[in-house]
Amino acid sequence: MVSKVFGGQGGKAGMSMRILCVTAAIVLMSIPAVAQELPPGNGQALVMKNCTACHDLEGTVQLRKTREEWESIVIDMIGRGAPLFIEEVDPIIGYLAEVFGPKAPPIIDVNKAGKEDLVKLTGVTSQIADRLIAYRTANGPLTSLEQVRTVLGLQSETFDKIKAYLRVPRI
Ligand code: HEC
Repeated sequence: MVSKVFGGQGGKAGMSMRILCVTAAIVLMSIPAVAQELPPGNGQALVMKNCTACHDLEGTVQLRKTREEWESIVIDMIGRGAPLFIEEVDPIIGYLAEVFGPKAPPIIDVNKAGKEDLVKLTGVTSQIADRLIAYRTANGPLTSLEQVRTVLGLQSETFDKIKAYLRVPRI
């Protein structure tokens, strides 16, 4: 599907397209964008590099889409001027489909989320979710990700995989 989109576009044409788009991206990069943490995975760096020039990713991380849907969004972005190399397209689609696919956890406000959402986070069992809710009830809102990690009782390695889905809004 993706290769068809690029059918007939040789390396040289692709390169000059990229130079054009890079120029556009540099102009747009002067617009300040809020840094968005992304879940780890192959393709994370490519998305940071290629998808933050025109808008931040706060809207993107809220979406849960199938591979086909992410593919059309990425193709749409190329149409809007995202300067992707052909070989970057598949890893980006694969990454988005993995970390923001239909089975990925939603973005979770750690001070409001119910148990049914908390347990969607990898490594968060029903018991762990109960612990967080009990802590919140007893001590009031959580104020930092590190505090969330401690209350959940997760190792950094496990927590690093889920922390991009967590929000600790300032109160
Ligand atoms: C050249 C500028 C540019 C780049 C680079 C770019 N986008 Fe966009 N993007 C836009 C514009 C313009 C819109 C539509 C207006 C808006 O929502 O801000 C948009 C909208 C979106 C939306 C909302 C669309 C929807 O259907 O809800 C998503 C998701 C998105 N972009 C993801 C990405 C991803 C992923 C990348 C990297 C592959 C990317 N964008 C790179 C310009 C860009």
